[in-house]
Amino acid sequence: MARQFFVGGNFKMNGTQKDLKAIVENLNNAQLDSNAEVVIAPPALYLDFVKQNLKNSKVEVAAQNVFNKPNGAFTGEISVSQLQDLGIKWTILGHSERRNELGESDEFVASKTKYALDNGISVIWCCGESKDTRQAGETIKFVENQLAALAKEISDWKNVVVAYEPIWAIGTGLVATKEQAQEVHAAIRSWLKKNVNEKVAEETRILYGGSVNAKNCKDLAKEEDIDGFLVGGASLKPEFVEIINSKQ
Ligand code: G3P
Repeated sequence: MARQFFVGGNFKMNGTQKDLKAIVENLNNAQLDSNAEVVIAPPALYLDFVKQNLKNSKVEVAAQNVFNKPNGAFTGEISVSQLQDLGIKWTILGHSERRNELGESDEFVASKTKYALDNGISVIWCCGESKDTRQAGETIKFVENQLAALAKEISDWKNVVVAYEPIWAIGTGLVATKEQAQEVHAAIRSWLKKNVNEKVAEETRILYGGSVNAKNCKDLAKEEDIDGFLVGGASLKPEFVEIINSKQ
């Protein structure tokens, strides 16, 4: 079956109103592939600002994180109901920078994913191994363990997009080869087929993230199990449009 191509832009902790207005205006004026699903994730402070300035109906706005409680004494966190209050329908969860810098466990990420899904927020769920894990030949086992923690919590995958982001490729310019990426994407799909079901395996989009740019996106997009990208640095630049259009 044809899975709809999906491109996410993770702006991370970057941008001011001036920068974000320029990025949004570029997207407003761009000719985007009508077959691509596009989601951009600005810093939480600017979710409403970006949504108000975004005129291209092809592009949805996502949070970079959300908490797993309805509201209350959770300083610094944002809630699903606050996202819904702004009409935000997506969030990224489990990015390696939050798993490693902020100590988010597989179980905590799974719990937040379940809570978001149960409350109508679609999730770009991130996974991926460190350089040491890859060098030890344990990449697929590591990613499967992350998947297992998620599968223990959720049963409905229709609003989940998986993003495989090898940590050693994030922000380094060391993009995974198409063979490396395809190998892990295929392993994720076969794990879903074996441990969830064939329909979920077939329908779940699996994105690649880690130093994607206008030069490498077309080759990567040709791989059978690469259904799109989660883009960091290049999503802040005009070349993000070329990445969105990389299947054209
Ligand atoms: O979430 C996407 C991000 O981790 C990839 O970052 O800058 O390597 O494209 P970058």
